Amino acid sequence: MPNTILTGAQWGDEGKGKIIDFLTDEADIVVRSQGGNNAGHTIVIAEKKYVLHLIPSGILRKSKTCVIGNGVVLDPISLVAEIEGLRKRGVVVGKNLLISDAAHIVLPYHRALDGRHEASRGKNKIGTTKRGIGPAYCDKAARTGLRMCDLMSPEIFTKKLAARMRENNALLKSLGVPPLNGRAVLKDYLAAADLLRPFVTNTVVYLHKALKAGKNLLFEGAQGTFLDIDHGTYPFVTSSNTTAAGACTGSGVPPHRIDRVLGVMKAYTTRVGEGPLITGDVALSDALHAMGREFGATTGRARRCGWFDAVATRYAAMVNGIDDIAITNLDGLDAVAKIRVCTAYKLDGKKIDFPPADPDALARCQPVYVEFPGWNSPTDMVRKFSDLPPRARDYARKIAELTGANLSIVSVGPGREQTIRL
Ligand code: GDP
Ligand code: IMO
Ligand code: MG
Repeated sequence: MPNTILTGAQWGDEGKGKIIDFLTDEADIVVRSQGGNNAGHTIVIAEKKYVLHLIPSGILRKSKTCVIGNGVVLDPISLVAEIEGLRKRGVVVGKNLLISDAAHIVLPYHRALDGRHEASRGKNKIGTTKRGIGPAYCDKAARTGLRMCDLMSPEIFTKKLAARMRENNALLKSLGVPPLNGRAVLKDYLAAADLLRPFVTNTVVYLHKALKAGKNLLFEGAQGTFLDIDHGTYPFVTSSNTTAAGACTGSGVPPHRIDRVLGVMKAYTTRVGEGPLITGDVALSDALHAMGREFGATTGRARRCGWFDAVATRYAAMVNGIDDIAITNLDGLDAVAKIRVCTAYKLDGKKIDFPPADPDALARCQPVYVEFPGWNSPTDMVRKFSDLPPRARDYARKIAELTGANLSIVSVGPGREQTIRL
């Protein structure tokens, strides 16, 4: 397999984890390069469900290596719990996991600040996962962050943490939030450091050696294009570059070593958290929720659902350089009689074909739809593209054409085997 960046082409939760697990069969190394445990990537193998937050979804395949790159913000306590949870279920986590010594760490004051900022935003809240992601990236940009290399040295960490605790406790107090117990934080983090030490290394050097040895890389994007800090529906975004370029800065692998970008998208659209969803549709949301689908893998919140938004995916194809697409959850539309696809937005009476940067303008956009007849038959047992109902095939081809990329994978269920390669 060529070195591939897998990126979410919508608002996250596109089914990236499932597709990563499927493709890892052909990869040597799976790399996470941004985001943190705000991500929730679901994989279903032989009816067993795994949800991964920080560990790359390649971990479930034997003899593959997983890397948490420098661009990730890592909560050590949460990572230890994730490792232990996997081990309890018989998944090997050992030499197959490497963690960048340059990755920034999420601390309890980041989580406290995330919660406080959300509360003070009132009805303008972002609807964050409250995992401390925004404040951790703030510290990184402000050059006050603590990194895995700091955590690995108890002496250095103790000193640096004390200074950061003083400052952040003063800040929390000024915001009316009870201060945190620095000693308890130090104890918990040093204990996590001991468990994580064997995994921590310079992953840039590791990845370059691997490339020299002819190994191939699969980058596992977290979140999605419209949650990107630069290209997303700002301010209703996360705090990292979720688009393809983020994979390079977040791993130290240069752009010319990337061969292919694969965009993952649902056959419809979902969004969890606040912010505009132009194609949102209450009846479709209700129908999908009634089937027990579209509840967040990290927070359990119900995702808002809507029709496929080709304005968004075309824009995603542009900013990510998407070559190929994987369409997931095609089976979610099996019982829908008339399927809509948004091909343009109408803004103040004028048709536009890209999402405006201004959030007020975006909120005023109305979808322009084309309609497709539904196929009205189950697809979850189909294993070959040619066996899909003709209308389902036409629909998948059409959304690839509207996105402007090559259709390469269609997924008809959460299971590994419910994946159709074209
Ligand atoms: P990610 O964050 O992009 O990895 O996606 P999530 O795991 O948060 O959400 C995707 C959800 O859709 C999960 O519950 C998956 O198990 C599920 N899923 C993925 N592909 C399919 C599919 O083709 N059909 C169905 N029914 N479920 C799918
Ligand atoms: P995966 O990798 C869907 C959303 C949150 C909120 C906004 C900011 O599973 O696709 P944050 O906690 O990052 O500051 O929240 O981004 N969000 C996600 N939505 N999937 C995700 O990850 C997300 N990670 C963050 O709901 O709207
Ligand atoms: Mg998810």
